[in-house]
Amino acid sequence: MKLTVNLGKDSYPILIEQGLMARTPGLIAEAAGTGKIAIVSDDNVFPIYGDALKQAIAKTHTVIDIVVPHGETSKRFDILPELYSALLEGHMTRTDTIIALGGGVIGDLAGMAAATYLRGVNLIQIPTSLLAQVDSSVGGKVAVDLAEGKNLAGAFKHPRMVLIDPLTLKTLDPRFITDGMGEVIKYGCIKDVNLFDQLAGYDNFDDLFQNIDEIITRCVDIKRDVVEKDLYDFGDRLCLNFGHTIGHAIEQYYHYERYSHGEGVAIGMRAITDISEKRGLTAPGTSARIQDVLSHYGLPLAAGVKSELLLDAISRDKKNIHNNLTYVILKSIGDYDLLKDSREMILEKEVI
Ligand SMILES: NC(=O)c1ccc[n+]([C@@H]2O[C@H](COP(=O)([O-])OP(=O)(O)OC[C@H]3O[C@@H](n4cnc5c(N)ncnc54)[C@H](O)[C@@H]3O)[C@@H](O)[C@H]2O)c1
Ligand SMILES: [Zn+2]
Repeated sequence: MKLTVNLGKDSYPILIEQGLMARTPGLIAEAAGTGKIAIVSDDNVFPIYGDALKQAIAKTHTVIDIVVPHGETSKRFDILPELYSALLEGHMTRTDTIIALGGGVIGDLAGMAAATYLRGVNLIQIPTSLLAQVDSSVGGKVAVDLAEGKNLAGAFKHPRMVLIDPLTLKTLDPRFITDGMGEVIKYGCIKDVNLFDQLAGYDNFDDLFQNIDEIITRCVDIKRDVVEKDLYDFGDRLCLNFGHTIGHAIEQYYHYERYSHGEGVAIGMRAITDISEKRGLTAPGTSARIQDVLSHYGLPLAAGVKSELLLDAISRDKKNIHNNLTYVILKSIGDYDLLKDSREMILEKEVI
């Protein structure tokens, strides 16, 4: 399956195909021309997919690898100089190509390096986690974390192409599949009732995997569409934030130790829908349907935190301007709306 993100001269293809990894060296060689290639990956992903990729590319191109420890701590701002040094040591020039091979951490980190090294070099995304395949590899947002918080230094950097091989999910720890499902369910909630019903209908993860190409394609297509319409994240793209305002607050409240991002989003989607349903803005029964699907995939429904304890964290939301927040709510499954209100709106649900 091939999708194209239409951005004029910055347009790029997204290929989604089981076994695509085998064709990847050829596709990269073609895209990179005669330039050099740097594979950026982490110490989980590189041994499984990076070694073979590197060897295959090395037949035709000069290629270096930069492997960082896995996990969010590698997305620190102060790791960037190490990447720049390795790129300089590899004599990478402006026309050369960085490959991001890994989950969202690697996509964001390698993307930041590609956006800034020598004022920008080419980037190819090869996302290997569910979250990266359905979300972070598409859209061109890249970022690193500062000591003060997550994703506080970033850039827009569109890749030359995105190569998605759903078979790589077979080696992913199941807890990261669950985590990614938080975002997949979100896409169904905001834009696609059929996807939502489909997800509700699978008996187990095996069933899900039978249809994973189609599911990833649907999610990527939704993100592609939203991104094309709102390249710089000022309007419609907000819909991708469904469940995120409260979700981020929950993640932050527990210092990112108790709930993963997808779990935070799950709790956030349920909580905001409880509130909007109570206000009569959402079709009755919507929250119950969301809760069914979330628990079906092992996602949490609530954190058991008093909502007043989350107010501080919500104030730090990047999209909070003068205590004016834009919440994404559902009119019904597959149909969202934006609602401006204060952070105190969350108090309408006492415990989240
Ligand atoms: N730029 C964006 O638009 C955007 C959107 C959403 C999230 N993000 C960022 O994405 C990051 C989270 O991404 P993530 O959940 O993919 O985390 P991650 O990159 O840490 O990957 C999760 C874990 O799975 C391992 N892994 C990845 N693919 C594997 C595979 N195929 N086989 C075996 N192990 C594999 C990784 O080594 C890691 O330990 C966060 O930093 C978040 O801020 C960015
Ligand atoms: Zn998210």
